Amino acid sequence: MWVTLAIVCVLVFLIWSLTGRRKGLPPGPTCYPIIGNVGLIKPSEAVKDHRRLRKIYGDFYSLMIFHRPVIFIHGLHNIRELLVKHGDVFSDRPKVFPSEVLAKRKGLAWSSGSLWKEQRTFALTTMRKFGFGRRCLQSQVMEEVDCLMEEFEKYEGQPFDIREQLKTSVSNVICSLLFGKRFDYEDAKFKRLLNLFNTLIAVLNFSSPAFIFPELASFKIFNFDKAAPIIKALNDFVAEKVEEHRKNFDENNINDYIDAYIAEQKRRTSEINTTFTDEQLAGSVRDFFTAGTETTSLTLRWALLYLIHYPEIQEQLKKDIDSVIGQGQPNMEHKEQLPRVEVFLLEVQRVANILPLNLPHTTSEDIWYKGYIFPKGAVMFFLIDSVLSDPEIFPEPAKFNPQRFLDENGKLSVEKKEKVTAFSTGRRMCLGEPLAKMELFLFLTRVLQRFDVKPENPDCLPSLKGTFGATNATKPFKLRLVKR
Ligand code: HEM
Repeated sequence: MWVTLAIVCVLVFLIWSLTGRRKGLPPGPTCYPIIGNVGLIKPSEAVKDHRRLRKIYGDFYSLMIFHRPVIFIHGLHNIRELLVKHGDVFSDRPKVFPSEVLAKRKGLAWSSGSLWKEQRTFALTTMRKFGFGRRCLQSQVMEEVDCLMEEFEKYEGQPFDIREQLKTSVSNVICSLLFGKRFDYEDAKFKRLLNLFNTLIAVLNFSSPAFIFPELASFKIFNFDKAAPIIKALNDFVAEKVEEHRKNFDENNINDYIDAYIAEQKRRTSEINTTFTDEQLAGSVRDFFTAGTETTSLTLRWALLYLIHYPEIQEQLKKDIDSVIGQGQPNMEHKEQLPRVEVFLLEVQRVANILPLNLPHTTSEDIWYKGYIFPKGAVMFFLIDSVLSDPEIFPEPAKFNPQRFLDENGKLSVEKKEKVTAFSTGRRMCLGEPLAKMELFLFLTRVLQRFDVKPENPDCLPSLKGTFGATNATKPFKLRLVKR
């Protein structure tokens, strides 16, 4: 009996030491044998849990998900140090569900190394040619905004859930750039795809063990099994568009991103080991489509929700817009003359906190920082939430206060603005930031020019508490858009 007990003890010790926290990793809660810290973070309460863990362990801590270390990094200074100063090593993506199962390490958002660098450079240059970050894109965005206004008018001030229309509209901007085509609001196939997409975002919770361990994805308990048919539908949709473009390709008529990519492939036919493959084209298109749709439309949903909750701010913004633009067409030149609109949007992005954990990063080699090891391949989260809710940077962070971005002369404080790191920072920083900012400004000004944004029921305002999946989303709510 003593021998059996001794064997059991040795086995438990071995399992413990093999699955425990490796020496040198940032500290963290006690690990249990085999499972480590699985179950410690409640996926739907991840933001709250990480704020609590930061109070206990400081700006760096680690959790063990089975034998895999996951490191959490808080604070603007640390995030800038690692993602900007040491950006050469901290810019890879780890092996997690989206990189392994969704993207198979191709595309823009989930690839790494030299492939990602080359593809990101091409994507940036090509999108700039199509007007990214330049004023010429705004007429395309405004066309879409005006279609959306027509949709809104159909409700004649009656309550409705704005989610589908906003999503279709924002998605159409990126579809025009990618496919040279927009979709009708009633297009059944497109509607179905956007709906499936909602499910994918709700399912892919970054704090689920199946996110860190894609091998667990087939277990129903984690819900990730729902992702497979959606990924297939998404890939089929993109493949169909690429096929159409290949059939009709005309090198003298490069109209959109897919055309530009096919032209680049043709230019590089003699290149051995080119990264410009068909798989990579499909991956890049899929990433632009997914990243460019939910993020911006979700931010706009939050903006409308805050307009409902703060009618006095809404009135101020309308007054400013009326005096600067009147009934004319909004454009990006108006932004400087409308500092209150800009600070409203900044404050919405800060409190909405739509990607509180950021996308995960990893290092391309083992690196020591502040006495801790960051092992190659470990999952690392640079928490955007830790900046956006930092009371040292934004006093009383829970309070919605756009004024915090204005200096004593009523001018926008550039220093404060730069600390709204909703798009992350460093080499992997959001590729779509210029487009997103343009969309947010043009959509918001046009809505306020045309409508009073009112709640469905003034005695019971919709909740400002979010639901956490892949993003921090608003709960479903209805509003009324009453023509001014
Ligand atoms: C309000 C809207 C948006 C927000 C808050 C946002 C935020 C982010 C964040 C936090 C990341 C991860 C950065 C990192 O890993 O450090 C990201 C990546 C990315 N975003 Fe956005 N995004 C928005 C809109 C867009 C739009 C409109 C597009 C496309 C047109 C886009 C395309 C991308 C792409 C392709 C990546 C991957 C970049 C890479 O891994 O190299 N995003 N975004």
